[in-house]
Amino acid sequence: MYLLTLQLCSIYNDNDIHYQHPLIEEANIILIYSLIIVTVLAFSLTSSIKKQYRVYYSLAALLAILTSFYEILRIISNVELHGFISNLEKASIQGNISISFFILVMFAGALGSKWGITKKLLSIRAQLAILGSIFILPHGIIYLARFILLKLPNIIRQREIPILYLGYLVVGIIAFIILIPLFLTSLNKFRSKMSGLKWKQLQRWAYGFYFLAYIHIILMLLNKKELDWMKLIIYTAVFGSYTLLRVIKAKKIKSHKLNKAA
Ligand code: HEM
Repeated sequence: MYLLTLQLCSIYNDNDIHYQHPLIEEANIILIYSLIIVTVLAFSLTSSIKKQYRVYYSLAALLAILTSFYEILRIISNVELHGFISNLEKASIQGNISISFFILVMFAGALGSKWGITKKLLSIRAQLAILGSIFILPHGIIYLARFILLKLPNIIRQREIPILYLGYLVVGIIAFIILIPLFLTSLNKFRSKMSGLKWKQLQRWAYGFYFLAYIHIILMLLNKKELDWMKLIIYTAVFGSYTLLRVIKAKKIKSHKLNKAA
């Protein structure tokens, strides 16, 4: 009964939970495992991802479709997954798998270009970005539909505006919209139709996307009744170190160019 109440809370009213969520540690483990597993797979399957990217896109799309179906089923029935499959589904719908791919894409552009790991990441950067984009689809679509169909009517009825909640949703939606052209122009079909300069200019929007993704996550964490410090620290450490490394790299490139010109 308790679990059912929790499940209903998370479906209909997850920002109204007034007690410590017993799965809070599990949620952290799912995030940490997602980061580790995606990183290990990206490094151990680099050449396979590069050559057989269509297989990986299809697998990601299949997982995204199954996640969406399950989430719809969860709203209309009492169906519940267990064990590994349940954790995999949570990692998928909560955006943990997607953000893990985007974190690799981010660091590919921030780490020293001569390092072996950077070269590996750079060789499949577009594929990693496409996989991250496919995995964010169920998250964005299902949570948006859930908001419009289940939560918005409640907000209008109660006439109380939950600022943080609406804030993180709006930021998430803007990030999602920015991602659409970035995703499409990562595909060879569209990329080949653009000039190199135009493509580069458009890709700069990726920084805006990373920033908004971070703000979305932080506002979401602050909106919870109990602040999940572990997640706050993990996300801040990852996005903070990325920003630092990216700024250092940009400065190095600038001074290298100035030296060359002199
Ligand atoms: C239509 C756009 C979006 C909507 C409606 C949305 C909605 C949500 C909601 C409701 C949560 C809280 C989930 C929970 O309490 O378990 C959340 C968390 C999250 N969102 Fe989004 N989101 C959107 C776009 C994005 C985008 C573009 C990203 C970027 C990758 C993203 C990444 C995340 C991540 C990583 C979490 C935190 C998961 C965790 O570790 O707990 N979201 N989002």
